[in-house]
Amino acid sequence: MKKDLLYIKDMSKDEIFSILDTAKDMRVFLDKGERKLNILSGMNVTTLFYENSTRTRVSFENAAKIMGASTSSISVATSSVQKGETLIDTGKNLEFMLSDYFVIRHSQSGGPLHLAKNTNARVINAGDGMNEHPTQALLDAYTMRDRFKEFKGLNVTIVGDIKHSRVARSNIYLLTKLGAKVTVCAPRTLLPIDIEKTGVKYEDCIEKAAKGADVVMALRMQLERQKSALFPSQKEFHYYYGVKAHHIGKDTMMMHPGPCNRGLDISSSAYEHENSVILPQVTNGVAVRMAILQLLK
Ligand code: CP
Repeated sequence: MKKDLLYIKDMSKDEIFSILDTAKDMRVFLDKGERKLNILSGMNVTTLFYENSTRTRVSFENAAKIMGASTSSISVATSSVQKGETLIDTGKNLEFMLSDYFVIRHSQSGGPLHLAKNTNARVINAGDGMNEHPTQALLDAYTMRDRFKEFKGLNVTIVGDIKHSRVARSNIYLLTKLGAKVTVCAPRTLLPIDIEKTGVKYEDCIEKAAKGADVVMALRMQLERQKSALFPSQKEFHYYYGVKAHHIGKDTMMMHPGPCNRGLDISSSAYEHENSVILPQVTNGVAVRMAILQLLK
């Protein structure tokens, strides 16, 4: 592994499988009810979030503590960033206060890369703007592999706000790299330009996109990143592109990275469907992040 974990786009298949294999051991450990390892004893993991988070931040903090590290948590809203300190100055000061890892979420694409180039600490991208969310894609891949074993030929349909979704981008890079067949479903206004060049198929109709899919992944509607109205109304979006129970086949795995907007990107009946793995996804996230912390040590 390199010093940092920044982008799925730059990762080799071997690096991805190394994380998934290590995470499997971590998940076995967690399933036994164990909560203490000494692998990162004496080290500090600092979470530095310039955007809101529940899952990614707590998942990394829990993973770090289980691995034996101490944790520090910087909320940008209450930090000296509000007094004008730059990202690099913040990072350098934290490094000199003995942070060994930074887990950073930044509203600007490239923020974590910029920090990684300017610190000796290990940097993990916890989501950068509309670019990538690599650890989410890795936990999603872990969840798919756990059930389906292979990625080659796996039919994965990703539905919703593809354009603004770093989760979609990291999943598309990872799944196409490993041989899965990815279909994206969204109104054209919520698709990135040239999406087909990434190797995915586009389908406008959710009924067709979901039919026969092994995995249906709904995405959060990212209203905070939309400067103009990209669909007529939330009610209409849910009607045409919201994932509902009848889109989930008998053997379809239902996923969502969270946070879910019930009644917009997903219905309650889909969220609570017996094939929904939304909650197992977050437990897998702890195991995957434990694996990443170990492999970057
Ligand atoms: N999936 C995800 O990134 O969730 P949070 O925004 O709560 O971290």
